[in-house]
Amino acid sequence: MVSTHPTGVQHSGSQYLPQRHDTKANPSPNQELLPLTARVHHHDLLEIGGCDVTTLVEQFGSPLYILDEETLRSACQQYRDAFKQYYKGESQVLYASKAWNCLAVCAIAASEGLGIDVVSGGELYTALQAGVSHDKIYLHGNNKSREELILAIESGVTVVADNWYELHTLVEIAQPGQSIRIMLRLTPGIECHTHEYIRTGHLDSKFGFDPNDLDEVFAFVSQQSALNCVGVHAHIGSQIFERQPHQDLAAVMVQWLRDAGKYGLNITELNVGGGLGIKYIESDDPPSIEEWVKAICEVIQAACAAENLPLPKLLSEPGRSLIATACVTAYTIGSSKVIPEIRTYVAIDGGMSDNPRPITYQSVYRAVIANKMSSPLSQTVTIAGKHCESGDILIKNALLPKTEPGDILVVMGTGAYNYSMASNYNRLPRPAAVVVANGEANLILQRETYEDLIRQDRLPERLKK
Ligand code: LLP
Repeated sequence: MVSTHPTGVQHSGSQYLPQRHDTKANPSPNQELLPLTARVHHHDLLEIGGCDVTTLVEQFGSPLYILDEETLRSACQQYRDAFKQYYKGESQVLYASKAWNCLAVCAIAASEGLGIDVVSGGELYTALQAGVSHDKIYLHGNNKSREELILAIESGVTVVADNWYELHTLVEIAQPGQSIRIMLRLTPGIECHTHEYIRTGHLDSKFGFDPNDLDEVFAFVSQQSALNCVGVHAHIGSQIFERQPHQDLAAVMVQWLRDAGKYGLNITELNVGGGLGIKYIESDDPPSIEEWVKAICEVIQAACAAENLPLPKLLSEPGRSLIATACVTAYTIGSSKVIPEIRTYVAIDGGMSDNPRPITYQSVYRAVIANKMSSPLSQTVTIAGKHCESGDILIKNALLPKTEPGDILVVMGTGAYNYSMASNYNRLPRPAAVVVANGEANLILQRETYEDLIRQDRLPERLKK
């Protein structure tokens, strides 16, 4: 139940709770800050997936990634349903597992009928171990090793070929009579407004074939019996709020389909990549999953009709918009430092090692105090990580209730590119992660121990005392 503070002061709990009680019956997870199951109970305490967050921290330790299964499943379903509703041909949503690749997340996505996009041998291995069917796995990467390609071929997954070197390597390693299922990744030359590190579709990108080489690539592939080219792929960037760049992309890709026909290639799959943004802060206003899917489907259907082409199987590979909002990270507050008239630092027991996005992309997050959900927001503080690095600041100017050591700070929207980009900087063990649903919490990633940290260390004999 959403609580109301008696003072009428705007308070953290209701400020970020999903608008479930609004007229909007089916909220799009990517437009919320907290997971869909978030509630305030006993006036002050945050609950997610029916589990009290402070109790989860007591049970599983701190920091803790808390993944709400319902939010993740809801996002999967919204993508699936939207394609069913707006696309007249076949479609397949792939989860871009680089956002968070682990057994449990791959298994949940697969159980919702999604395929998985992987970008390394390690991600591929994890998806296979999670029981994802090989015909729903697509391997990306701009410099796949021979070993990765061999693993992909032996497992029967589709290889998204990125460059000439890779095409030649595939032809070289194919067994006689073998036909490797591939797609071609092309750079569409489309600009979009997002951070330059996460923009990939403009011409000056390390990914994909130059579109000026299109004829040459199609001609080459059409002559190789070792290559069964089934489709084209493009991805223009991440955390995108505009619909136009993806609509432009969809139109360009239909032209590629038409051109492939000239070389006798029977290309039946078209993958528009991922990139739909999520709401990290109040002013972020991404389109809903449904609006994004609809915009793309309309353009592809119109362009195919204009070119008199049959509708391709339409693939997309969202990462962030599937999982970011489904997870929060809970930290325990420790020390603080008040610098009069400058700022107050409040330190937590994690930081850039479990969430490197603020220091890498200047990403902005919002937080609440899980045990003070109804207290007035009375102070503006800077949330500092515990790493030996001045830039290890998680949130600048966070508006919070008065905090004390032992309070549980919950940072929202941490499901994408947090665990997957986590490190052991300063030899901090990586946190545990739990999945919560219907009042039950299950460990999905065990907390690393100090022993784990030195597991790969070797001390040469001559250095031993
Ligand atoms: N497909 C391809 C080929 C990609 O490269 C990506 C993301 C996706 C799909 C999924 O995009 P999404 O739906 O998640 O936007 N580490 C950065 C994001 C890097 C995105 C890399 N590629 C961050 O933390 O913002």
